[in-house]
Amino acid sequence: MTIAPSSLSDTQIKSLAARIDRPIVLVGMMGVGKTSVGRKLAQLLDLPFADADEAIEEAAQMSVSEVFERFGEDYFRDGERRVIARLVAEGPQVIATGGGAFVQEETRTLVLERGIAVWLDSDVQTLVERVRRKDTRPLLRGGDPAEIIARLKREREPFYAQAPIKVMSESGPHGEPLRRILEALDQWL
Ligand code: S3P
Repeated sequence: MTIAPSSLSDTQIKSLAARIDRPIVLVGMMGVGKTSVGRKLAQLLDLPFADADEAIEEAAQMSVSEVFERFGEDYFRDGERRVIARLVAEGPQVIATGGGAFVQEETRTLVLERGIAVWLDSDVQTLVERVRRKDTRPLLRGGDPAEIIARLKREREPFYAQAPIKVMSESGPHGEPLRRILEALDQWL
């Protein structure tokens, strides 16, 4: 299957897919493209895909914003922790996590032990441009999105940096980060 420009041949991708024995967990800031890149990565590797935020929305029967509004962030984080633990236990698949998930110690430890964490990173300007397209992120409602993004990125980087694989995702199509993830996984596994 050819979806994105890849320096790996179909045979190499198949051999890589056969070596994947754990979930691949995408971590990083909101707006970096974890969901879009994750979906394509799963398709290429012929693995299931799960988006943790969507799984939380399904379990709670309401949107992430509504969970924040009605029950607060702590309640959301608790649900997020449980949902990610369930997804990780399901075995090999690609999981896109919400931007704050990997900052939580329990989730981070679990993902580092049982999965392959991939930190998808972008500069602040690219993140701000991307989050402007959607008004669904409760953490950005309390002030200037650019300032909030810059602060969260600074605070969260030491946690994201614990992922064994880091890939840059600049503005533009997601084919490039996808190729970099495949190459990194191929070397790592
Ligand atoms: C959050 C990021 C969101 C979502 C929630 C909180 C965060 O997910 O989980 O709004 O703390 O950065 P995305 O990273 O998919 O936007």
